[in-house]
Amino acid sequence: MTRRILVTSALPYANGSIHLGHLVEYIQTDIWVRFQKMRGHECRYVCADDTHGTPIMLRAELEGITPEQLIARMHLEHLQDFTGFHVGFDNYYSTHSEETRFYANDIFRKLQSAGLIDVRPVEQFFDPVKNLFLPDRYVKGECPRCRSKDQYGDSCEVCGAAYSPTELINPYSAVSGATPVRKASDHFFFRLSDARCRDFLRQWTREPGRLQPEAANKLDEWLSGELSDWDISRDAPYFGFEIPGAPGKFFYVWLDAPIGYMGSFRNLCDRTGLDFEAFWDRDQAAREQTELYHFIGKDILYFHALFWPAELHHADYRTPTAVNAHGFLTVNGQKMSKSRGTFITAQSYLAHGLNPEWLRYYYAAKLNASMEDIDLSLDDFIARVNSDLVGKYVNIASRAASFLGRRFDGRLSTDSEQGSEGRGFPALQDAGQVLADLYETRQFSAALRLIMMATDELNQAFDRAQPWNLGKDPSKTAQLHSVCTQAINAFRILTIYLKPVLPKLAADVEAFLNVPPLTWADSRKLLPGGHPIREYRHLITRVEQRQIDALIEANRESMKAAPKPESHSQARHAESQVHHQPEVISIDDFGKVDLRVARIVDAEHVEGADKLLKLTLDIGTETRTVFAGIKSAYVPGQLKGRLTVMVANLAPRKMKFGMSEGMVLAAGDGTGLYLLAPDSGAQPGMKVK
Ligand code: 2FM
Ligand code: ZN
Repeated sequence: MTRRILVTSALPYANGSIHLGHLVEYIQTDIWVRFQKMRGHECRYVCADDTHGTPIMLRAELEGITPEQLIARMHLEHLQDFTGFHVGFDNYYSTHSEETRFYANDIFRKLQSAGLIDVRPVEQFFDPVKNLFLPDRYVKGECPRCRSKDQYGDSCEVCGAAYSPTELINPYSAVSGATPVRKASDHFFFRLSDARCRDFLRQWTREPGRLQPEAANKLDEWLSGELSDWDISRDAPYFGFEIPGAPGKFFYVWLDAPIGYMGSFRNLCDRTGLDFEAFWDRDQAAREQTELYHFIGKDILYFHALFWPAELHHADYRTPTAVNAHGFLTVNGQKMSKSRGTFITAQSYLAHGLNPEWLRYYYAAKLNASMEDIDLSLDDFIARVNSDLVGKYVNIASRAASFLGRRFDGRLSTDSEQGSEGRGFPALQDAGQVLADLYETRQFSAALRLIMMATDELNQAFDRAQPWNLGKDPSKTAQLHSVCTQAINAFRILTIYLKPVLPKLAADVEAFLNVPPLTWADSRKLLPGGHPIREYRHLITRVEQRQIDALIEANRESMKAAPKPESHSQARHAESQVHHQPEVISIDDFGKVDLRVARIVDAEHVEGADKLLKLTLDIGTETRTVFAGIKSAYVPGQLKGRLTVMVANLAPRKMKFGMSEGMVLAAGDGTGLYLLAPDSGAQPGMKVK
């Protein structure tokens, strides 16, 4: 029976770049989707950029562009990243779309009619300079527990205390630096505390298959207490959808984010004639037996397993068939870290010429259906990819193909229908069912272990047959032909099993084997006798240690001067900034630093660098080239002609993009980046003392 399946991954925020942490989820989802498609099911995979909210509004302002311009640029960047890693969305859309607005309004109105929306005043910090209500992360101050300075409004990174922004000592706005004032305004709430929500959720979350056991336990915990109502509105200025009938009030970004799944799918339906209702209408979905799966990180379970099903249910839409949560990524056993160079963007991985399928394979080899964190151990990455993909899998084809090409005009033997000793490959072919179950239940690591065991056996069988000896004995020509034919047939079956993980490599194998795109069912068949294959070309190269070293080094360097808030779930988990007490230095120490006024005579983008701008600086007596990590905050055009301050006696540093001859000074605390400038009248070359 053909299943009808709609799949989503969490929508990445439009103000951050995709990094290796994000990719765990997109790769996991993509493998699952590709598997379903290979099985012949009607499976659609949609996603979008999560475009609304204060951070995006402020980031655009900082760059001197509109939020629409920012999200258009990030959309392209994200799509490039995903395409680069072969993540094959059927639609990659935006929450800033009429489709999403339509369903947000529709769901809101239905919840309102059901009596599940309340309005009540909320007191919040307000920035009197920017005239802006401040999200918790934008209020900073001293921790009320340990008195560490410059802590965020929701929690202390030094002692771990959690609190509300109004508890901070000496609070200040991270946007303007002003002292915030408390101000009340009316907010809309989704009444999650209503007994109808609780009763529905208690039943829904316990239904078999909806949630992983660990997730279901978490939900039980949440549902055993009182649920709080959910604040779903924010006041202007806000980049988002204005709430119908409530001028100046906007839907909170998290309200419309999951609705973006519907928006993206609606857009796909309108373009391709698919039936939206069959997937989302509560009754239709049941009648048509459509399935809906959300793949998410474990940190956003609350949104997807509480708010979202409760909203959908009470607005008469279908609820997810299941929510699949995964853990976080660690690199070398630790949180991704900018100072260690392990906070690696998708762009930089690809720009360094690393093969995206290496990472797909490695993640798959680590992934299972649990919410455990997964570790990218870089040594293990190199070893595993080289041994499994190059040493074992591709090796079969390269060895067999070389004989077939040289000795048999690239044709398989005519008794190949029979396979090995007239039996085909019963074990390998029967494994298809077990492997399908493993893919279906997201136990990718177990699937790959099984595939690699089979690969080992095939290599051993090939060795045992000693084709190099058969080749020397003219009476053994038919036997040699048969051994190589079997190897190619087995290789083809392995390729089918690996295809969800390695789609590009599989496409190259299809070209080499001279066959149409392989489906799962093709594993039951062998290639016809006499089938001509094409000339063997290298299918995959080894990962070299130096490539990894260069990647780490580049990420370490380019991040140095670019503190920037990150917002995706995985980024929240990334290394936090540690505030050290500055060491006391003598005036002589300070005197060693040659600070000069510099005029920025030119500023340019750097091909392939996601953080850097290339600056040409005039310091009176000479010009210097400096690569500065300020791209997140400035566009080159803004900088030309400006005066700033540079460290003129910093040892030149060789960077991937060229030599950097100094450093410009900028202030930043993780929320913004501000280039220093002297008062007017200062001239290039003047010493700063
Ligand atoms: O945590 C995040 O990165 C959010 N942008 C995820 C949104 S998922 C969905 F609800 F849209
Ligand atoms: Zn503290």
